[in-house]
Amino acid sequence: MTTLTTAPLAPLLDRLFAEADIAKAETEAVLAGVPEKEQGRLMRSKTEYRELYARLRHVPLPVSRETGALLYMLARGSRARTIVEFGTSFGISTLHLAAALRDNHGGRLITTEFEPSKAARARQNLTAGGLIDLVEIREGDALETLSADLPQTIDLVLLDGAKALYPEVLSLLESRLRPGAYVVADDADMSPEYLARVRSPAAGYVSAPFGEDVELSMRLG
Ligand SMILES: C[S@@+](CC[C@H](N)C(=O)[O-])C[C@H]1O[C@@H](n2cnc3c(N)ncnc32)[C@H](O)[C@@H]1O
Repeated sequence: MTTLTTAPLAPLLDRLFAEADIAKAETEAVLAGVPEKEQGRLMRSKTEYRELYARLRHVPLPVSRETGALLYMLARGSRARTIVEFGTSFGISTLHLAAALRDNHGGRLITTEFEPSKAARARQNLTAGGLIDLVEIREGDALETLSADLPQTIDLVLLDGAKALYPEVLSLLESRLRPGAYVVADDADMSPEYLARVRSPAAGYVSAPFGEDVELSMRLG
C-alpha cells in the first residue's frame, strides 16, 4: 500500500487529472488567441513569461500521469527528504512528490507559484490529499522565492515553470544538489539552453530525455 495508490490521494488525483483533461480545450482556446509567433517569443523570453501564464491562470497544465508516477518513483526510490519544485499550478505534481516524502517517513518540499489563485488551489488540494504538512508553498517569482532559505542539501528538483528560466533556476539550486540528486525538467525541449547545459559532459550531470516531454538528469559527485 502506498500513499499514492490509496484514499484520499488516489481518488483526488483521478478527479484532478479528469478535470485537467476537460480544461485542455480551454488551454487551447487561450493559446489560439495568441499568434503562434508571439507564443514562441513569450515562451523563450526570460522577462515576459508572466503575461502568458496570467492568461493560463485558470487551467492546471499538469505533468502527465506517467510523469507523475515517475516523480513518485524517483523520490521514493532515492529516499528523498528534500525536494524543490519550480511551478506548482494546482499542485498535481506536488501531490505525487509529497506522497513519496510521506512514504519515505517525512521530509520537506518547497514549491513555488506566482499566480495567487493557483497557489490557493494547490494548498486546497494538498490539504484534501492530507499532505500539506510536508509542503511549503512560496508565492512569487521563483527567481526571488528560490534565491534564499533553501535546505542545505537537495535530493530532487522538478522544473516545470517558465521554460526559459530553467537555467537560472538550476543555477539557484545547483550548489545544494547532493551527489546522485535527480533533476526532472518537464517540456525541456522548449529550453535548448537548459538541454545544452545538462547534456554537456563538463557540467556534472548524466542526462537523457525520456518519453515525449521529460529530461532526467542526475547530479554527479
Ligand atoms: C506547467 S504549470 C505547472 C504544473 C504543475 N507542476 C503540475 O504538474 O501540476 C507551470 C506553472 O508555473 C508557474 N510559473 C511559471 N513561471 C513562474 C515563475 N517564474 N515563478 C513562479 N511560478 C511560475 C505558472 O503560473 C504555472 O502555474
